[in-house]
Amino acid sequence: MPENTDITILAIESSCDETSAAICINGKILSNIIATQKIHEQYGGVVPELASRAHMQNIVPVVSECLKESGIKKEDIQAIAFTQAPGLIGSLLVGGQFAKSLALALEKPLIAVHHMQAHVLANLISDKKPSFPFLCLTVSGGHTQIVLAKSPLQLEVLGETIDDAAGEAFDKTAKLLGLTYPGGPLIDKYAKDGNPLAFKFAEPQIPEFNFSFSGVKTSVLYFLQKQVKTEPDFIQKNLNDLCASIQHAIVNILIKKLKKAVAQTGIKQVCIAGGVSANSGLRNALLDFGKENHIETFIPDFQYCVDNAAMIAITGYYKFLGNQFSSLDISSSARAVW
Ligand code: KG4
Ligand code: ZN
Repeated sequence: MPENTDITILAIESSCDETSAAICINGKILSNIIATQKIHEQYGGVVPELASRAHMQNIVPVVSECLKESGIKKEDIQAIAFTQAPGLIGSLLVGGQFAKSLALALEKPLIAVHHMQAHVLANLISDKKPSFPFLCLTVSGGHTQIVLAKSPLQLEVLGETIDDAAGEAFDKTAKLLGLTYPGGPLIDKYAKDGNPLAFKFAEPQIPEFNFSFSGVKTSVLYFLQKQVKTEPDFIQKNLNDLCASIQHAIVNILIKKLKKAVAQTGIKQVCIAGGVSANSGLRNALLDFGKENHIETFIPDFQYCVDNAAMIAITGYYKFLGNQFSSLDISSSARAVW
């Protein structure tokens, strides 16, 4: 039973293919329910219209389960936070309209949250938190960014991808190997028994802290086309080495830029976030980098790395403290800068 002075936030996330609801009290997560939409697997990627329909089906049961698990009553909620941008517009609209309706019905304030800010602040959920300022490498299926966090509400994007996101690079190259969607976790699995230096793929030269992954994908495509011509079962025979080498190439691009950001800013607290932070090659590379350079590294629990409402709730909590509420006429946005 929350006290009157407690800040209790209900949060909704629906930007892509996960429907999620979470409750936090004073920045502590009580419940984080995630319904993953399996329907997209058979299409090799997320189908936006199917995602919107699945959110419509999932949202009420997910929010009900979240309330039940947390033991919080609707009347005890102080504010409703929701993902306002960026993402698939149909998906965002389902969560946004639900959040607005609930805010109106309960007469509680609304807090609009930027999904990428929330990925960064997922690092503040655990007891072992980075202190400010810190750097965060956010790597997901839709985004790749290096962010400088000066405070919970003062975040600056130092660099981002100019083409594919890191997760997309994993998924698209996995598709070239004949692996199912999402291919990132499968590359990770097969890479464990492979040689990361067996094959070398293109390394882009992109200025500043920006990233590019389209060159890796093209170089894998041309290499496979050439090899398969002379040896039709080349992929099957070399799957582990191919996965290990592709993973090595993508992780190398990410870690090099992160090292550059650390060197240039002098910041010694470094986090990663987003679905690709589950990748064991990236996690190990980050830990090694930390140990070698006396840098403290942070990786959120897996449930807070993939798309989840707990990160929206924690961001909602800091926005509540900063008095950053939204009016009911705020629109969802597929592409919003921050
Ligand atoms: O953050 P997320 O759940 O959703 C987006 O906001 O996009 O990230 C999903 C991405 C997918 O591209 C998936 O292949 C990738 O994260 N991913 C991985 C691993 N687990 C998830 N990539 C590489 N290795 C993994 N273990
Ligand atoms: Zn995300």
